[in-house]
Amino acid sequence: MDAQARIKELTDLLNYYNDRYYQDAVSEISDFEFDQLLKELEKLENENPVFRQPDSPTQRVGGGITRNFATVKHKFPMLSLSNTYSEEELREWDARVRKGLNGEPYEYICEIKFDGISLSVDYEDGILARGVTRGDGVQGDDISPNVKTIRSLPLNVRKFEAVLGRNFEVRGEGFMSNEVFREINTAKLERGEALLANPRNAAAGTFKLQDSAVVASRRLDCFIYQFISDNEKFATHEESLIGLKSAGFNVSDSWEKVTDIDAVISYIHAWEHKRHHLSCATDGIVVKVNRYDQREDLGFTAKSPRWAIAYKYKAESKSTRLRGVTFQVGRTGAVTPVAELEPVELSMTTVRRATLHNADEIERLGLAIGDHVFVEKAGEIIPKVTGVDLSQPNPDRQLIRFPAECPACGSALYRTEGEAAWYCPNTEGCLPQIKGTIEHFIQRKAMDIDSLGEGKIDILLENGLIGDAADLYSLQFEQLLGLEKVHTDEETGKERKVSFKEKTVQNILEGIEKSKGEPFAKVLFGMGIRFVGETTAQKLAQYFKHIDQLAAAGYEALIAVPDVGEKVAQSIHEYFRSEKNQGFLEKLKAAGVKLEADNIITEKEGHGLEGLTLLYTGTFEHFSREEIEKKIEANGGRLVSGVSKKLDYLIVGEGAGPSKLKKAADLGVKTISEHEFIAMIS
Ligand code: IVH
Repeated sequence: MDAQARIKELTDLLNYYNDRYYQDAVSEISDFEFDQLLKELEKLENENPVFRQPDSPTQRVGGGITRNFATVKHKFPMLSLSNTYSEEELREWDARVRKGLNGEPYEYICEIKFDGISLSVDYEDGILARGVTRGDGVQGDDISPNVKTIRSLPLNVRKFEAVLGRNFEVRGEGFMSNEVFREINTAKLERGEALLANPRNAAAGTFKLQDSAVVASRRLDCFIYQFISDNEKFATHEESLIGLKSAGFNVSDSWEKVTDIDAVISYIHAWEHKRHHLSCATDGIVVKVNRYDQREDLGFTAKSPRWAIAYKYKAESKSTRLRGVTFQVGRTGAVTPVAELEPVELSMTTVRRATLHNADEIERLGLAIGDHVFVEKAGEIIPKVTGVDLSQPNPDRQLIRFPAECPACGSALYRTEGEAAWYCPNTEGCLPQIKGTIEHFIQRKAMDIDSLGEGKIDILLENGLIGDAADLYSLQFEQLLGLEKVHTDEETGKERKVSFKEKTVQNILEGIEKSKGEPFAKVLFGMGIRFVGETTAQKLAQYFKHIDQLAAAGYEALIAVPDVGEKVAQSIHEYFRSEKNQGFLEKLKAAGVKLEADNIITEKEGHGLEGLTLLYTGTFEHFSREEIEKKIEANGGRLVSGVSKKLDYLIVGEGAGPSKLKKAADLGVKTISEHEFIAMIS
């Protein structure tokens, strides 16, 4: 196949897998294979830039640096909404709507008001052409490279021409999910860097970054809530939301159609608490008149439409007493002050503790023990101390002293120039650091040993059964049976007895055994090398293929790996020079943990083709005729001899028979490429 055709094929294929994943939550192909195909495409595009498609998925991973964002005028101004915090004012607004419509019946669509960054996204000829910020409402910044990194935003919607037309604009709210926000902050905390204040600011900052590769790594998302086009595709807002959703846009399912203001108020009450479980921060709800013709009748004021209004929830903030401050030592040795609070109910949970991040934060807040402090749980789910409640006197203010020694092992703490965190240097002997490393190793994203959760690591450590995570692999049934301990849940303060009965021990050992099947990249992430997160671990595993090669790599070789910068390379290099870490690795090797990357095509048999009939035509890159036939059978499919209406898939190879292709097209039989076939059986 020539480069042009292959580029086109890869573009369509990768966009297809992406949309399946982000719209239907189905991964038809492993991340690794996806990345391989993407790399192939990137390479071909670099060699043949003229053949690059306008909807190329390589734009999703960014890479381009924009010096200055161009200013673009919005076709239709991006207005704001009038706001209210009161139900009474909401009823007054409803009365004005009723009057404006001369008593005609009307419906409202209630939606969540997402607290992110408003975006306008232009589609031209069915292809995502431009993403623009709101700016001053009249003109905004063209941040297209950054917007294209949003994976839930389709790059090509030509298939949906009948529903949407080819030229239109969608508007929505760009955001950073609470999950991603937490991940980034956890990583920042470990590195002693300044934390992002909240998901909204994080998203706003990220959308304006000049390096789109960094933007891509922050996994921004967006909810679409408006469709604008010259041709009248829809008569109501409801139809537009359904149409957008059917075309693959990320329309939140939280909207509801109602017929009167009482129902609007019920909607407000229903979401007051539920909204905290959404992935995006929210600050209220939006009520919109459903019919477009009625919207036109109602019109606009100078700043906002008369047909919509935002109701805002008051940010929940409560005052409670600061009982004390404890100091926690994390996996990396960073010491974090934690506010111990008089328990207080906030957004559906009881808050007892809140991180104070670092010494600078305590100083900034001017905190003293016994103070009443305001605690807030805004978008970020994690409770936060926002200030001192000066209305509550605290006559004997006890100042908070940041310790000079590690609260766990007594070593003198140190602080690196330019970093906010204080660290305990005793990585080899400080218990919370050891425990943190083991917890890091067993977490879902690493070795996934969930049978070891909830205080069980403590028991193993306290009984001297393990000194590091690799020791888990030499645990014996008899050593564990009968051990017990009272475990206090850090979040709830509840006490519970953990005891190792027969079944528990069995589960633990099975979980440990199973973890030996986790791929190399996850093992590498689990090892807890400083600055090596999940993505870097994947890149390293792919690049070096074997732990020995990684361990032997010098600084120069490390820095050559995509995404590995100076700090990361330095850290990896140091990690493998430590005798303790070398011992740890030896134990992992002896245990049979995967320390090399798997081959791309697995020989394992599966059920990917269960109940399907298939036929192939042409020749293939990865299989001979016999091999592809064996693969079909081995994965539950049935090979048939000719194209008929009953055929599910025709696998098309190089030099495919034109008559078979034509017949398949005539009968509407789906054709797939070799790569799609591989994806189906992976
Ligand atoms: S509709 C004419 N719907 O709130 C305005 N806006 O104050 C049309 N927002 O700039 C906006 N969620 O950034 C609409 N479901 C939603 C929204 C929403 C959040 C933001 C948007 C807008 C601001 C208006």
